[in-house]
Amino acid sequence: MSLNAEALHSALRRMAPEPIDLIIDLVQETGSTNADLMQRMRQASSTCPVLLVAERQTAGRGRAGRQWWSEPGGALTFSLAWHFPLPASALLGLPLAVGVAIAECLQTIGVPVQLKWPNDVLKEGKKLAGILLESQPSSLLAGGATWAIIGIGLNLRIPDALEAQIGHTVADAPWLAQMDRNELMAALLQRLTQVLWTFEQAGFAALSDRWNRLHAYQQQSVNLTEAGEVKHQGLALGVDEVGRLRLQVGDDVICVHAGDVSLRPMA
Ligand code: BTN
Repeated sequence: MSLNAEALHSALRRMAPEPIDLIIDLVQETGSTNADLMQRMRQASSTCPVLLVAERQTAGRGRAGRQWWSEPGGALTFSLAWHFPLPASALLGLPLAVGVAIAECLQTIGVPVQLKWPNDVLKEGKKLAGILLESQPSSLLAGGATWAIIGIGLNLRIPDALEAQIGHTVADAPWLAQMDRNELMAALLQRLTQVLWTFEQAGFAALSDRWNRLHAYQQQSVNLTEAGEVKHQGLALGVDEVGRLRLQVGDDVICVHAGDVSLRPMA
């Protein structure tokens, strides 16, 4: 069944123990749902979260300035604008928290996934979903509130031509592609909102153990690269309470911030 706001609201009402107050907008086509919500939340007059789902994006944004490619019906592409009564500096671990929500939800549905630091969702070692977090200050609360725009792209079906365009192999999930998309979206939103409330009240420290249980490269040798250059090599030990990667380098353990660093398992 294709996505529609009424069916999504009713799936959410059935699933969520507490009602989720949420504005839902679905569009056939847009450039980027993240770009749209970044623009829209500048004029927001309430702190109610907004979900924007697009069947097709013509200029999907990925991390580190990359493009995010998907095909209509072959992916879920959506962004959630969430108001935090916190300054942006308190949101450093948020992208990892979102990764926990998406991965736990998919595992519950029966898709075996893991997390690659900071927040790629992997299936059989290939990327199944990506998360792009953007933020801007909110003027709706005095004392440092922030709108977080949480963009999520989840591959369902990847035709060969699209994989060629992406330029490397990625994962798909034919099992998810067969699900009612309203049910899938509602399940993702339900887990996501629970995790966002936990993050708001207790920070990433309350979620770091859950992230570490999903870690794809625990105790494995990895390279951390920035702009194609290897910055660190070591043994990945999972994340700390603020979401930094703990890396054993020789006899030392260093903690690395995400920034634009990419992680690659060593051959
Ligand atoms: C990544 O590079 O891993 C992040 C990809 C995020 C893609 C999603 S699709 C919905 C939302 N809108 C965008 O333009 N990007 C995010």
